[in-house]
Amino acid sequence: MKRLLEALFGLIALTGLPYLIYLVVYYVRRPTGTPADTWPREPSVSIVLPTYNEAAIVESKLEELVELDYPMENVEIVVVDSSDDGTAELVETFFAGRQEPKLTLIREDERRGLATALNQAYAAAANEVVVKTDCDSRLAPDAVRTAVANLADPDVGAVTGRNAEVIGDSEVEQGYRDIQTMIQILESHIDSTLIFHGPFSAFERDAIVPIDDDSIADDTELALKIRRNGDRVVFDPDIHYREAAHSEFSKRREQKDRRAMGLLRLLWRQRDALGRHGAYGRIVLPFNWWFMVVSPWLVATGIAVATIGSLAVAGPFGLATPAGVLAFTALGSRDALGPIQPLYSLFDTQISLLRASVSLLRARAAGDETSHDGTWSPDEELREVLQ
Ligand code: GDD
Ligand code: MN
Repeated sequence: MKRLLEALFGLIALTGLPYLIYLVVYYVRRPTGTPADTWPREPSVSIVLPTYNEAAIVESKLEELVELDYPMENVEIVVVDSSDDGTAELVETFFAGRQEPKLTLIREDERRGLATALNQAYAAAANEVVVKTDCDSRLAPDAVRTAVANLADPDVGAVTGRNAEVIGDSEVEQGYRDIQTMIQILESHIDSTLIFHGPFSAFERDAIVPIDDDSIADDTELALKIRRNGDRVVFDPDIHYREAAHSEFSKRREQKDRRAMGLLRLLWRQRDALGRHGAYGRIVLPFNWWFMVVSPWLVATGIAVATIGSLAVAGPFGLATPAGVLAFTALGSRDALGPIQPLYSLFDTQISLLRASVSLLRARAAGDETSHDGTWSPDEELREVLQ
């Protein structure tokens, strides 16, 4: 019994150790804002907007883009469309008779996934800075302005922003985003951050390289590759966007599990970056490996050990442990945990990562190295809350 308890506490301590280290470093360094040397300027910008069947929301997205606080004569909007619902026609109508910004419309005759579409759009983008945004997100008016100020730093090749408000009030998502913001600020001050966000990422055009055609973590992959080529890739909490999210357990799984799979696959494919490229490969990547690859298994093992332990000690009453975990999940996914809600958000992420790890391992065992073809159906409900 004592052994079991020791094992349990050991596991908990081991799982938490890297977080504790990060927390200590955070409080010692107290980083705030972007680490970039920002400088106000107005370089030419290409805004890349990939669309797959976004007829319901594409016009409001374009409206937002042309209303950004940025000189539109310096802007080109690159829409890469693979829809069969008339999205491209809506885009053309929107730009008909409009002098600026300039439109570059790429129409794919067949849907081959977001990564392929983005590779084409990046190759077509003519301007100095390339911004990528998702159709189902909303940007703060000064987002582009703040991003180009970051890219004025000669050491910085890419910058991403912060999900400042979760549309649809999912506290599960908000809690996780707040923790993620702290981590990403710290990583950026140490060197560079790993995760780049689909709703808003900006890159120096000359730094852009192709991403894998089956990528399901396109923005993070591009940022990682840019860091490997020498430029810093940072997070600026003053770049704000909004994105819709679910709280409910089952609804979260599809999108979260896919994103988790995309990130895990990326870490694995780029594993030779570990330990290289300065503090990025020595601190940031190992931390993310721990969080995404190792810790989900430790959490699962911890729950299993605690369950066996409590059954051994308290007989049938030991079932209280798994029941407690279930109750935590049930309450957490209803945003009902009050002050410990963010803890649930982390737990929810670990569940996605564990599920994604299992799918990846099974695909591998079945001899399927790609394990995901890079296409998925857009979440209708998340688009409805935007309207
Ligand atoms: N052209 C094109 N072709 N666009 C696509 C395709 C495609 O096959 N699939 C999706 N898109 C567009 C959507 O219309 C939307 O503008 C954007 O790509 C993101 O798609 P969502 O369906 O909203 O996916 P998400 O919110 O889960 O996407 C996030 O995670 C992905 C990784 O799994 C984003 O951050 C993506 O950038 C990221 O790749
Ligand atoms: Mn989306």
